[in-house]
Amino acid sequence: MGLTTVSENVYWVGAVDWNIRWFHGYTYYTRRGTTYNAYLIRDEKVALVDTVYTPFAGELLDSIRKVVSLSDLDYLVINHIELDHAGSLAEVLKAAPQARVYCSPKAAEGLRKYFPECRELNLVKTGDSLSLGRYTLRFIEAPMLHWPDSMFTYLEEQEILLPNDAFGQHLASTARFDDQVDGAILMDEAARYYANILWPFSSLVLKKMAELEQMAIPVKIIAPSHGVIWRGNPGAILDAYRRWASGEAGPLAVVAYDSMWGSTEKMAHAILEGLVAGGAEAKLFKIPLSDRNDIIKELLDARVLLVGSSTVNNGYLPTVAALLDDLVGLRPVNRIGVAFGSYGWGGGAVKRIEEKLREARFEVAEPGLGIKWAPAEGEIEACLALGKRVAERISGLKGSPP
Ligand code: FEO
Repeated sequence: MGLTTVSENVYWVGAVDWNIRWFHGYTYYTRRGTTYNAYLIRDEKVALVDTVYTPFAGELLDSIRKVVSLSDLDYLVINHIELDHAGSLAEVLKAAPQARVYCSPKAAEGLRKYFPECRELNLVKTGDSLSLGRYTLRFIEAPMLHWPDSMFTYLEEQEILLPNDAFGQHLASTARFDDQVDGAILMDEAARYYANILWPFSSLVLKKMAELEQMAIPVKIIAPSHGVIWRGNPGAILDAYRRWASGEAGPLAVVAYDSMWGSTEKMAHAILEGLVAGGAEAKLFKIPLSDRNDIIKELLDARVLLVGSSTVNNGYLPTVAALLDDLVGLRPVNRIGVAFGSYGWGGGAVKRIEEKLREARFEVAEPGLGIKWAPAEGEIEACLALGKRVAERISGLKGSPP
């Protein structure tokens, strides 16, 4: 896609990856592709902030050449060592061996392992700055947002925050700015990104945002390393991050299940009916037919997750296991979990789901519901009643933690 001017002397020199469909191994379905954003700042000194994923190194170098000669590149700031951002470091240094590399102290070990050819690193901490002439780069370490080495760079005179992965979205587009894309799709992808990548670090997100407020740095533009740049309304993504990180949720319940012969499915639909009858908002996902990242994104707004599985080999189905394992890693806060499912000669799924929900820090506030073979009429009533009880539990919520 070439070059885009972000503001005077600041250029997007990244790459659009239209075709990527799986990210972080096979954990994140990037249905709308992604971008790898790198930013070139031209002043008396020239700085490149971040690179792009290795296969796109040629595009990066071509875009830089449209602004300056590679022999004029003075500084290369690596905000984050993960290879979707640092992956072209070797190629940049090959083309611009004079460039001095800057990174956080926690980035040094990983950067040297990934790129043994990068011998000289200039380590910068929060509060350190680098003058480009008229402009100043200020560095703000952001450990665990989302790797230990993560760092934000702030272009002081232009009030542009370059926070790398934070505030990003996996969204390939010909547009580079938030005011050029569909707002609903943008926020949906930003929410998927937060839920599936940053959720475990919510307390650190809140601390970092408070730190930024204390620093009282004005932010006119937020230019993350994935997706579009927030220039029209950067406050929208800051507000959303505050809300997501605080654990707020509304009166929404998510029912997610898999079923061998339809009995757990009947239970899921009856529970859904009970939830709605009790006044809750509810969404239902059959796990093997759904995008797991979407289910997780819905949990950003849902106070309750009801997980259902038929019992197999005294436990839950492997499709359900994948969702539960994701949740253990994501550790959502202020969430209630409920288990249900059918079984034959011996139950086991409900107990195992409850164990896993507790491991994922859910409050298991309702006893799980297991039904032998197939739900009889009275047992369907029990499913309806469970849905209603859960609805009562979350009724009146208006987005505040308990
Ligand atoms: Fe987009 Fe942590 O890499």
